[in-house]
Amino acid sequence: MDIILIVAITIDGYIARRSDEVISWSKDLKLFKKQTMGYPVIMGSNTEKTLAVELKGREKIVVHRNDDPKKILENLDAKKCFVIGGGKTYTKFAPFLTHMYITLHPIVFGKGIQLFSNLKEELSLKFIRKITVDKTEGIFQFQYKVIK
Ligand SMILES: NC(=O)c1ccc[n+]([C@@H]2O[C@H](COP(=O)([O-])OP(=O)(O)OC[C@H]3O[C@@H](n4cnc5c(N)ncnc54)[C@H](OP(=O)(O)O)[C@@H]3O)[C@@H](O)[C@H]2O)c1
Repeated sequence: MDIILIVAITIDGYIARRSDEVISWSKDLKLFKKQTMGYPVIMGSNTEKTLAVELKGREKIVVHRNDDPKKILENLDAKKCFVIGGGKTYTKFAPFLTHMYITLHPIVFGKGIQLFSNLKEELSLKFIRKITVDKTEGIFQFQYKVIK
C-alpha cells in the first residue's frame, strides 16, 4: 500500500502557526480533494478539530497519542492512504511513508508547527514530478518517493 504524506507548507518548513489554526492560506485544496478522494485519510486529533469542511468520500481515521501507527496501517484495506497531518501525526507516521506530496507556499511564518520534529531517522527522497497549483503565485506541488 502506498502511504502518502500530503501537506501545504511554508518556505520555512511550517504547516501552521498554532496547533488550533484553521488553515485558510493553503491554495491546494482542490488538488487535495482530487488526490485523496476515495482513499483513507489519517489525521491527528488536533487536525480533526481544525477541519473547516467534512472530508466526504474518504474514510476518516483519527489518531491519538497511544495509537500504534503500524497497527493502524495494517488494518487498512486500500491501494493507498494519505497522512494529512498535523505535525505530530506526520512525525508519528514518518517511518512508514512511501511518498510525500509537498505543496510549497511562498509564505514565511518564522515560527509555528513544523512538518516533522525530532525524527529518529533521516528520509531519502527521489523526485517524481511537479504539479502546478498556481503558476502566477508560484505555488507547486512536489511529489517524491521515499527511498527505503
Ligand atoms: N498545512 C497543512 O497541510 C496542514 C495539514 C494538517 C494539519 N495542519 C495543522 O496542523 C495543526 C495540528 O498539528 P498538531 O501537530 O498540533 O496535531 P495533530 O498531529 O493533528 O494531532 C495531535 C496528535 O498528537 C497527539 N498528542 C497530543 N499531545 C501529545 C503528547 N504530549 N505526546 C504525544 N502525543 C501527543 C494527539 O493525541 P491525543 O488525541 O491523544 O491528544 C494526536 O494524535 C493544526 O493547526 C492544523 O490546522 C496543517
